[in-house]
Parts: sequence; structure tokens; C-alpha cells
Amino acid sequence: MLVGSLAGYTGSARQSVYGAVKAFSRVFAEGLWLELRDHDVDVLELVLGVTRTPAMERAGLNFDIPGLNVGEPDDIAREGLAHPADGPVWVAGGNASAAAKRNGADRAKLVLGAHEAMSRLLPTSP
Ligand SMILES: NC(=O)c1ccc[n+]([C@@H]2O[C@H](COP(=O)([O-])OP(=O)(O)OC[C@H]3O[C@@H](n4cnc5c(N)ncnc54)[C@H](OP(=O)(O)O)[C@@H]3O)[C@@H](O)[C@H]2O)c1
Repeated sequence: MLVGSLAGYTGSARQSVYGAVKAFSRVFAEGLWLELRDHDVDVLELVLGVTRTPAMERAGLNFDIPGLNVGEPDDIAREGLAHPADGPVWVAGGNASAAAKRNGADRAKLVLGAHEAMSRLLPTSP
């Protein structure tokens, strides 16, 4: 199982490398899933949305934005462990429509929209 992110669906400022790595991970998982399915090996990219983990607490994420879908780590881990054979990609925490929305063709509109949402989520740098 590889741990992915909604951040892997659009580029984001100050997280260019992180988002790109997560995009790589998802496509890598899809390839491995194809290569290994004839060997009865499950491959799953578990895509997370915002999840209340120690790292995110440390980063100072604003979890209190009205309407923000925040996953709890235990729930997300349990969901992933329940779906090893549902690869190549499982979007956890009720974020499937958010992932689908980020896959559109108008990249400027989508990237700017995601950037605006991220700006509300992350504290501004000093
Ligand atoms: N939290 C979110 O909102 C969110 C959203 C999307 C995707 N994700 C993804 O979820 C995964 C976990 O993130 P997280 O938020 O849970 O972060 P986290 O709270 O910092 O947890 C990261 C975990 O990885 C371990 N770790 C870090 N560096 C390591 C290394 N070099 N070797 C072995 N273990 C190492 C840490 O171990 P120690 O505790 O021992 O340091 C910790 O258990 C990441 O792949 C992240 O990209 C998280």
C-alpha cells in the first residue's frame, strides 16, 4: 500500500515537490497494480484528504474551516486496510468527488481554485 494525497492531483505553491511526488506515487501504483495482478499481489494507492495527524497539527493546519472534511487517522487507516484488493486507487474519507473534480482539463482554473483553498488551510509563512 502506498499513501497518496489529494495534493497529488493539482500543483500547489510551497508544496510543488510534495504534490509531484504524490502524483508519481499514484501513477506508479497503477503500473505496479497492472504488473502484479497476475501474481496475486494487491497494490493500492490510498489517497488521503486532510487528516488530523501529528504532522498536520505541527504544521498548524486550520481544521476549523466550516465545511472542511477532516479525516481521523484511525478511521482512514481502517478504511485503507479494508480495501487492499480495490486498487489501484482508493480515495479515502469521502473524498472521491474532490479527487474527481481535480482531474478536469482546465488546469489553470483547477490549480488556482485549489491554491485558494490551500491558502485558507495553511498558516501564512512569516
Ligand atoms: N495528514 C494529512 O492531512 C495527509 C493528507 C494527505 C496525505 N498524507 C500522507 O499520509 C502519510 C502520513 O502522513 P502523516 O500526516 O501521518 O504524517 P506524520 O504524522 O508525520 O506521520 C508520518 C509517519 O512516518 C514516519 N516516518 C517519517 N519519516 C520516516 C522515515 N524516514 N522512515 C520511517 N518512518 C518515517 C513517522 O515516524 P515517527 O513518528 O517515528 O517519526 C510517522 O509515523 C504521508 O505519506 C502523507 O503524505 C497525509
